Amino acid sequence: MNEKNSLGLDICFKNFENPLELFKEWFDEAKKTEINDPNALALATSSKNGIPSVRMVLLKDFNEKGFVFYTNLKSKKSQDIQSNPHASMCFHWKSLLRQIRIVGELNNVPDKDADAYYNSRSYGSRIGAWASKQSTILKDRDELYKSINNFKKKFPDEKKVPRPPNWSGWNLSPKEIEFWLDGDNRIHQRLKYIKSKSGNWEKVLLSP
Ligand SMILES: Cc1cc2nc3c(=O)[nH]c(=O)nc-3n(C[C@H](O)[C@H](O)[C@H](O)COP(=O)(O)O)c2cc1C
Repeated sequence: MNEKNSLGLDICFKNFENPLELFKEWFDEAKKTEINDPNALALATSSKNGIPSVRMVLLKDFNEKGFVFYTNLKSKKSQDIQSNPHASMCFHWKSLLRQIRIVGELNNVPDKDADAYYNSRSYGSRIGAWASKQSTILKDRDELYKSINNFKKKFPDEKKVPRPPNWSGWNLSPKEIEFWLDGDNRIHQRLKYIKSKSGNWEKVLLSP
C-alpha cells in the first residue's frame, strides 16, 4: 500500500497549506526526470471576442507573486493579454504522469527583472528579440534573416544590446492551482488550491 497524505492522496501531494511549496517540489522532480524543458507550459489566453488560443512558453521564474514567462509584447498572446488579462497555464510532466493547471491574472514584469533576464540570454537570442516581429506575417524567410543582420550591424558589441521596448515578461498571479496525478483505470488524483479573498489558500479534492 502506497503512503498517503492527510487527504488520502498519494504522498507526493504532501500536506502543504501553500501550493507554491507543492509546485516547487513537483517542479524540482520534473527537472530531474523530464528529457526536455521541464519548464515548458501551455499558456491559454483569449481574445477580446472570447476566442481562445494556446501555445507553449517557458517558465523563467516563480515565487509568491506568480509565474513568469518572457515574450514579445506585440505578439498575438500579448495582444490577447492586453485585452483580457485572465489566462491559464498547464504543465504536463509525462515522466511523472503529473499535470499542474494554474488560473490567474497577468501583469507586466518590472523592467529591472526583464532587463536582468534579457541580459542573461545569448547574443543571438537578444538580437532575435529585436529582429522578429513575433506573430506577424513574413513575406519570406529572407525578410527575417535581413532583419537579423541589420540588428547585428546596429548592435555589434555583444555586451551592449539593450532590451527591445516590446520585449518583456508577463507574471501570472495565481487564483487557482490544481495538481493532478495519473491513477489506475483513470481514477486519477486531483487536489485544487483556491485563493480566498483574505489571501489564504483553501484545498479541495476534485473527482477525476
Ligand atoms: C517548448 C516551447 C517553448 C517556447 N517558449 C516560448 C517562450 O518562452 N516565449 C515565447 O514568446 N515563445 C515561446 N515559444 C513559441 C510559442 O509557442 C509561440 O510560437 C510564439 O510565442 C508565438 O505565439 P503567439 O503568436 O500566440 O503570440 C515556445 C515554443 C515551444 C514549443
